Amino acid sequence: MEIIDNMLRYNGDKKEVLPYIMELVRQSGAMKDGVIFNDVFGGSGVVSINMAKMFEHEDVNALVNYNEYDKCCYRVIESLKLTSPDVVMSDLEKLQAQFGPTKGNKDAFWAMRDFVNANHDRCPWLDIGIVRCAFSSTPRWNGSGGFNNSPGNRDWNPSDHWQTLYDTHCWLTSVCMSSHESMAFFDMNRTGNDVIDYLDPPYTITNANYMHGWSFEHDLKLIDMAENRALSGGKFIMSNVLAHRGKRNHILEDWIKNNPDLNVYYIDKKTYKIARLLDTDHGTVEVLITNIKGDLENVGRD
Ligand SMILES: C[S@@+](CC[C@H](N)C(=O)[O-])C[C@H]1O[C@@H](n2cnc3c(N)ncnc32)[C@H](O)[C@@H]1O
Repeated sequence: MEIIDNMLRYNGDKKEVLPYIMELVRQSGAMKDGVIFNDVFGGSGVVSINMAKMFEHEDVNALVNYNEYDKCCYRVIESLKLTSPDVVMSDLEKLQAQFGPTKGNKDAFWAMRDFVNANHDRCPWLDIGIVRCAFSSTPRWNGSGGFNNSPGNRDWNPSDHWQTLYDTHCWLTSVCMSSHESMAFFDMNRTGNDVIDYLDPPYTITNANYMHGWSFEHDLKLIDMAENRALSGGKFIMSNVLAHRGKRNHILEDWIKNNPDLNVYYIDKKTYKIARLLDTDHGTVEVLITNIKGDLENVGRD
């Protein structure tokens, strides 16, 4: 199945890891009508959209829940669901025609940013355009919801993304959306052996712009929650980082060490190939941690 790209550029998006997440879900035993997939830290929405597509392709009647705590990010993704892609594309093309190209032209970028900030309550999808032209194509909003990243060194052509925009809109129409803090989301959403929680929280030892105060205490609470939900039959797949630039997440490492039943897959950040064991002394160590007994040996190998 072809993976749909994300419209909103998002650092930490899980597009590359999706084939592994999908295969774990296929092997989870929950791949039946009525299955619920919770994308609790939804971000760009790329996981929710592609899971909705996968369930439909495999003829499984499923409910996909996208949840995102960050109100600015949430309202962009929600607007892609609620607004005709023709309207979104036309506005993005007008934005680009009026202010682009911004590459090498900082004044054009600042003017575009002012325009987007003045209009995004009415048209949140305009943020997609400014993110593409911003530094490292990274979304960054201030406390009052204004986009506040600086100019980048890229330009873009909205019409290159027409198919992605159209697919995103279509698949989002079947996704349920909410904007809660993760623990509040769990309080409101039941678990059971037909429920799979995909957990992609901020990584405590990295320094993303969407941490919202995420700390080791949050990691502990999330682990506790995942374990409790597993006791009622729930499945979870967690994405996280065990080591980064000389720092290690000892909370996660201890959890793995003390729970031999957990399956841990190490992801090679360069090739996105997966291994059951990796030298954790160097670089960034990204993992999938799950209570699903899966075999990912042959995913992505022809
Ligand atoms: C690693 S990113 C998720 C990326 C996403 N999986 C994707 O593919 O685009 C983590 C997300 O968690 C959100 N977040 C931060 N604190 C949160 C909290 N307490 N509860 C729920 N979500 C939170 C952030 O805004 C961010 O979008």
